[in-house]
Amino acid sequence: MVRLIGIAIGFLFCFVLMWAALTPREAAAPDPVKLLHRHPKEVTFAHSGPFGTFDRAQLQRGFQVYKEVCSACHGMYHLAYRNLEEIGFSPEEVKAIAAEYEVSTIDQATGETTTRPAIPSDKFYRPFPNETAARAANNNAYPPDLSLIVKARKDGEAYVYSLLTGYGETPPEGFEVPEGLNYNPYFHSVNIAMVQPLVDDQVTYADGTKATVDQMARDVTAFLRWAAEPELERRRKAGIVTLAFLAILTVLAYLSYRRVWAGVQH
Ligand code: HEC
Repeated sequence: MVRLIGIAIGFLFCFVLMWAALTPREAAAPDPVKLLHRHPKEVTFAHSGPFGTFDRAQLQRGFQVYKEVCSACHGMYHLAYRNLEEIGFSPEEVKAIAAEYEVSTIDQATGETTTRPAIPSDKFYRPFPNETAARAANNNAYPPDLSLIVKARKDGEAYVYSLLTGYGETPPEGFEVPEGLNYNPYFHSVNIAMVQPLVDDQVTYADGTKATVDQMARDVTAFLRWAAEPELERRRKAGIVTLAFLAILTVLAYLSYRRVWAGVQH
């Protein structure tokens, strides 16, 4: 009898195991965020492709957008004002840009902390002294430093451009955007704490370019790419020279091979 019960329990166990293994899993309800999240838009720049070079005028416009809009919340701590000479500003212009900001220092006479106008070797002005202060001012969200953001995010430039131009759509029926957040399908959670930073004609470009949201987003994205990878042009040039050198070397090696083996009979 005990043996029979044992066998029955064994069968039952096997049955439950097989049943569990063979019944298909119920399809999980699709995650609405995954459905709404979009891949970045396609966008090309003067510096795209293996031979592209930066468009200096565009970088300067991008800096203007950063300075007049983004720098209210985002720092770019890896840049010093003098780096702006690399995108075509003259030393005098750089001096003037730096002098618009104040940095803290010590009064040599009294030893008290005080401020002085920034000079070209100073790092870019930081809008908040630290992350806590930045969060306190931004609904507990942290506006990241933008120096390396193009390298820090998948699809770099395309992502930043899409994010900046991705506002303004109404979320689908039934999708609730939490209080204090904004709908943007290019952000990973489709709700971003950053309010739409760009609106048409927000800046006035000195070169007469029309400041549409699309144009400003392109310009500032190009500027952020330069900031993250200022050596891009040098790196590409070095690559091309290296390839040319290797090609010439290959021809020389082939010719010397012919020469060395010329007299040898098969
Ligand atoms: C009013 C403040 C404010 C301004 C102005 C602002 N941002 Fe932001 N930004 C934020 C905050 C806050 C976040 C963090 C968002 C989050 O985590 O939900 C953020 C996040 C970002 C991110 C990162 C998104 C990610 O993937 O983590 C990028 C890129 C960005 N901002 C670019 C810009 C650019 C470019 C400008 C200027 C055109 C700009 N921001 C202007 C507040 C601002």
